[in-house]
Amino acid sequence: MAILVTGGAGYIGSHTVAELLDRGEEVVVIDSLLTGHREALLGGKLYEGDLRDKELLKKLFAENEIDAVIHFAASSLVGESMKDPAKYYDNNVYGTLCLLQAMQEAGVDKIVFSSTAATYGEPEKVPIEESDRTEPANVYGETKLTMERMMSWFDKVLGIRYVALRYFNAAGAHASGKIGEDHRPESHLIPLVLQAALKQREHIAIFGEDYPTEDGTCIRDYIHVSDLADAHVRAVNYLRSGSGSNVFNLGNGLGFSVKQVIETAKKVTGLDIPVAVQERRAGDPAVLVASSDKARSVLGWNPSRADLEGIIASAWSWHSSHPQGYGDK
Ligand code: UFG
Repeated sequence: MAILVTGGAGYIGSHTVAELLDRGEEVVVIDSLLTGHREALLGGKLYEGDLRDKELLKKLFAENEIDAVIHFAASSLVGESMKDPAKYYDNNVYGTLCLLQAMQEAGVDKIVFSSTAATYGEPEKVPIEESDRTEPANVYGETKLTMERMMSWFDKVLGIRYVALRYFNAAGAHASGKIGEDHRPESHLIPLVLQAALKQREHIAIFGEDYPTEDGTCIRDYIHVSDLADAHVRAVNYLRSGSGSNVFNLGNGLGFSVKQVIETAKKVTGLDIPVAVQERRAGDPAVLVASSDKARSVLGWNPSRADLEGIIASAWSWHSSHPQGYGDK
């Protein structure tokens, strides 16, 4: 029996594939390679293509004995989603519908889903709990919440059980040094800070220093990508054991400001990192910190790479040894 990983050549997908292979699981990947990288796959059988290609999905499910699905494949840029909503509804929502239909036809009844803190929007309180209000502030978050709701109805009506994992800020790279973060374009804070340390960009922009936080910059909950990968494996096993659908936050429960991230990166790299304070970026909540108590108690998840310095050091070991990421496409 194999686990199907959609978007397995992406950042979090590829780290999850690595974790599954380490645990002796058989892995099948579907990835369009539009944003993922072939080099990020440390194993498994790759089907290159799109979830909206129903024939390809049918073939994949016919050719492999799939026990469970881990679903990462999606467009994930908040800014882009506010310029091109149709792309997000098409790729994310319709893509997920095609996947669920194919699972229904093939009789596969377990799915672990890559969701996001963006489903909450501006939080009513921090740390955020799973039962808090979900009111997405952007199209990206709205499509992820819609995908969660679709899964909930596919469970009620058809018994396809799901676990939605709402991650906060994924960061860091694999301990092997073979895979790491390479988004094009890159929009995430830690890789951009490290690019500034490498002099690949002139400075790191600080998007606003007038937030109601101690140093005026936004606070986020950074979580190591390999801890996220571990949670996905636990979620599959949770469903395998017969448990019902559930939703979990995945974060450290610790918040760090943009300035703290930059200061920590200076310490880790030993390099100067020029900064330029700019206007706020639209749609950024001041503070996003997770309560992950539920994942800890129900999944037995215990993030082991929790300190910011360690997370940035692991990202730095990838970026400094792969200054061009996976290289030219
Ligand atoms: N930031 C900067 N300068 C930059 C880039 C980011 O100051 O050049 C700031 C942002 O304003 C934010 C923080 O650094 O305050 C982190 O920004 P990221 O873009 O790295 O991450 P986000 O918190 O915006 O986004 C993450 C995920 C999204 C998800 C969102 C949930 O990447 O997929 O959390 O709100 F939607």
